[in-house]
Parts: sequence; structure tokens; C-alpha cells
Amino acid sequence: MIYKEGDKMDDFDYQMLKYKFALTKLETEINILTEDYAFKHKYNPVEHIKSRIKTRESVLQKLQKKNCEMTLENIKEHVHDMIGIRIVCSFLSDVKNIVHMIEKSKHLLVKKEKDYITSPKDSGYTSYHLIVYVPLCLEEEEFIEAEIQIRTVAMDFWASLDHKIQYKFSEEIPEEIKTELYNCSLAIKALDHKMLLLSEIVNRYK
Ligand code: GTP
Ligand code: MG
Repeated sequence: MIYKEGDKMDDFDYQMLKYKFALTKLETEINILTEDYAFKHKYNPVEHIKSRIKTRESVLQKLQKKNCEMTLENIKEHVHDMIGIRIVCSFLSDVKNIVHMIEKSKHLLVKKEKDYITSPKDSGYTSYHLIVYVPLCLEEEEFIEAEIQIRTVAMDFWASLDHKIQYKFSEEIPEEIKTELYNCSLAIKALDHKMLLLSEIVNRYK
């Protein structure tokens, strides 16, 4: 039996397959760009890269929060991070360089940028986010959205602990914990700036 559009179950599975294809393309593009950068600058700005496709449960949760039913149309309209990739860099300057590299890519189209480094979230969260379109050519060309998060190791350390703490509380996080987390984010920011200065000093020795 061949797949035909209109079969609800198969449509969902097919869309998930397209997300998988788009993520493969995105990962390949990011790997090429970062390896090219590393070769040309004799320096690798990337500590690690992580990617994921949103699970069914996580999509359902997100749509429920937005009071939307779990349909393909709602996923396309409301979930902009079905596929996500996180690039963790060494220094603040690396984040900027990688953002610039992605903006210049001829294989990705930037839809939106959110600079939570210049303007951190109230929680203290810092990171640079891009929503990009990944072109996919199957029967016809289409553009699949993806979220790229770029941050330093220090920002990543804060975000992963914050995420774990958030999971501990099913309700609102107590105010004292929020304040402490926010203070930690300021310490992280100061550390990132110190490390950046240090890297500039080290570079002068080269
Ligand atoms: P969603 O949060 O994905 O519904 O969309 P949004 O439009 O609010 O996007 P935003 O750019 O604010 O956040 C997207 C992602 O950034 C989240 O899914 C998290 O991975 C991360 N993020 C945003 N805020 C926080 C935060 O306070 N703490 C942590 N740990 N991660 C955050
Ligand atoms: Mg998200």
C-alpha cells in the first residue's frame, strides 16, 4: 500500500519523518560550517553540539498549554522547535561568530532571532536563539522550521541546572529559589566576561 495524503495517522508519521530529514540536513550544514571555520581559523569555537526532535508527549504538552488540539496544522502553526539544535561554544565571542556564520549560510533561511544575551529573560536565562527554515525537497520544495540555540558552556551550565530545578516543581518555583538562580546567572555572566578577557590576553601571546 502506498502512502496517500489524508490518512491522519500516516500524515503524522510522514511529518515526523520530514522533521527527521530536516534535522539531518541542519546537522550536516552546522557541522560543515563549524568545521570550515575551525580549519580556516585554526581554532574550533565549538565545545559540543546537541540536537533533538521533540517527543510526542512534549508536543502534546506545549499544545495543551496553548489550548490547542494535537493536529498537524497546530503543530506547524504553534510549535517552532519541533527540531532543535544547540551549539555550545567556549567564549562569548564564539557565539557571535557562529551566529554570523549561520546568518550568512546559503542553505538556511533565518526567520527570527532572539538575543537573550543582550536581553536576558527574567529568569536569568541567556542564550542566542535563531528560528531558521531548512529547505526540504521531496515531491515539492518546502521549508521546515528549526530552533538553533547558541550559548557558552557557562550559560549552558546555568540553563541545564535551571531546567532540572524547574522539573522538581510542578507548580511555580518558590521566590527564594528564583532569586538565587537569577543571582547565579549574574555570576555566570561575570565569569563569561572574565574568560573572554583571558582569551584575548592568551591570543596576544600567539
Ligand atoms: P517555547 O518556550 O519553546 O514555547 O517558545 P518561546 O517562543 O517562548 O521561545 P523562547 O525563545 O523564549 O524559548 C525557547 C527555548 O529556550 C525553551 O524551549 C528552552 O529550551 C529555552 N529557555 C527559554 N527560557 C528558559 C529558561 O528560563 N530556563 C531554561 N533552562 N531554558 C529556557
Ligand atoms: Mg522549546
